[in-house]
Amino acid sequence: MCGIVGYLGPRSAQSVVIEGLRRLEYRGYDSAGIAVLSDGELATRKKAGKIANLDAELLSNPIPEAGIGIGHTRWATHGGPTDQNAHPHVSADGRVALVHNGIIENFAQLRQKLEARGMEFTSETDSEVAAQLLGVELAKGVGLVEGMHTVANTLNGAFTLVAVDRDDPDRVVAARRNSPLVVGVGEGENFLASDVAAFIEFTREAIELGQDQIVEITRDAVVVTTFDGAEAEVRPYHVDWDLAAAEKGGYDWFMRKEIYEQPQAIADTLLGRIAPDGSLQLDEIHITDNELRRVTKIVIVACGTAFYAGMVAKYAIEHWTRIACEVEIASEFRYRDPIIDPNTLVVTISQSGETADTLMAVRHAREQHAKVIAICNTNGATIPRESDAVIYTHAGPEIGVASTKGFLTQVVACYLLGLYLAQVRGTKFGEEIREVMHELQTMPEKVQRVLDDIQPMLDLAQEFSERPSVLFIGRHVGFPVALEGALKLKEISYLHAEGFPAGELKHGAIALVEPGLPIFVVVPPKGRDQLHDKVISNIQEVRARGAYTIVLAEDDDLEVEPYSDVVFRLPKVPTLLQPLVATVPLQMFACELATQKGYDVDQPRNLAKSVTVE
Ligand code: M6R
Repeated sequence: MCGIVGYLGPRSAQSVVIEGLRRLEYRGYDSAGIAVLSDGELATRKKAGKIANLDAELLSNPIPEAGIGIGHTRWATHGGPTDQNAHPHVSADGRVALVHNGIIENFAQLRQKLEARGMEFTSETDSEVAAQLLGVELAKGVGLVEGMHTVANTLNGAFTLVAVDRDDPDRVVAARRNSPLVVGVGEGENFLASDVAAFIEFTREAIELGQDQIVEITRDAVVVTTFDGAEAEVRPYHVDWDLAAAEKGGYDWFMRKEIYEQPQAIADTLLGRIAPDGSLQLDEIHITDNELRRVTKIVIVACGTAFYAGMVAKYAIEHWTRIACEVEIASEFRYRDPIIDPNTLVVTISQSGETADTLMAVRHAREQHAKVIAICNTNGATIPRESDAVIYTHAGPEIGVASTKGFLTQVVACYLLGLYLAQVRGTKFGEEIREVMHELQTMPEKVQRVLDDIQPMLDLAQEFSERPSVLFIGRHVGFPVALEGALKLKEISYLHAEGFPAGELKHGAIALVEPGLPIFVVVPPKGRDQLHDKVISNIQEVRARGAYTIVLAEDDDLEVEPYSDVVFRLPKVPTLLQPLVATVPLQMFACELATQKGYDVDQPRNLAKSVTVE
């Protein structure tokens, strides 16, 4: 959470920083601020609220032209979203400006010590402590890099710090522990940011910083050291998407654009993972086949939407591999003393690769000597770096706070992992795996068909924009789809929404049903088991109590008609793959309903895209 930008070079620091912040605004939008160094002076402007407020402030109170600057867009943790608590924070002597992402856990003790020495604080944030400490260090006569080393070694918790020194206008220095930071390497200019989107317009050459590293950028050099002061090994990489991918491309919202990108995102996630003989190849799994054969249990750990992708995966992986598979919310995982050992395979799922709870789960699992595979969309992020292996989803940047293509590609990556395990362990024959792979390859086209036929969902969203509550029910893999449908609606439409296992309703929740309550029902394909018929009974139960039923059912399923107020048709797919087509109308319903209500779909209240604090 929080977006950070730093710049040093020949361009206008104000425009690079502000445009960079705009691209990082998905990370937090409680306040925004900028600091520049110009003619030996440090100038800052900051405002509570979105960047638009800072734009207005800069219009009425312009900041001097400069070639060096830092900026911040905040998701509030310590201290409310006010002008005073906005970053950058400036040291009491006016020399240092600093921005911070993360939580400084020992800030109260440090603040007390500084206050005892007479220092006055101007904000309620934990971050200001870092600015003040850095000011104290520089006042001793040390340079910005040395001062940053001392401060970084004094703080506990999670932090990316980026700072400038009024008396040293040729350097921006940053420190990173448990929060993301990347360097953009230009010619005669360099950039720092929480995410490459901030500088992709200027350079696609990047360096991902490692844990506990300090980076110093000048116009022509990037020097990285560890917190101990040793030279650090750096990993340069080329960003393989361009500016257009980080822009809305004619859509009203990033979310809508990202929903429409799903057919391509699925195709890209499948690309290159099938060998010419039809077998599955996951070259990126650096875990030997023997180790995979020894796995006795799989534990999937994730948060939010990624957790629901994990729930879908459990059904598929257990079915294909016959390995027991648990799915766990990351924030619960390490605090309940989970039973894991070297034969446990821990699979973490994270679009951003920076979610703090999931990262802590990775560390906990590795301490117990479990093997960890990350499913992640962000190249070089912390979670994949700290895992034994990674399966990248190739969804491209996901900017809308509500995850959409992130979810579908996570589900696809989970299917690939399950099938790969089945192949290695021989629990499925090559022919069966090829069949599922064939079905998977038809999914981009089928998701596209759902999008082409989406209009009834949009009409429904208009009709329902004033309803106070919506329920979603499903069974088997339809249950996580119901949960995901409800989450989308909650997070962007601020409606009360719940997802339930359809069979569980009569154990309590059916008491909520009253005439006119909209209930979405995910109906499984007709198969050999009785799943389909059971769900039909569940629809009848709620219909009998006056619910308004919106039924998602496959093309030729006529049995649902007598019990449906609205039927939305889904292409025919095998049960385990149905989440890929059934989730899409629910995403669109939420997106349209939030649009109708006039909400900011991409930046819903109280949220941020990537939750980098525990
Ligand atoms: O980046 P991650 O996949 O680790 O994020 C996990 C959740 O924070 C995320 O899925 C969140 O629930 C979304 N806002 C849901 O749309």
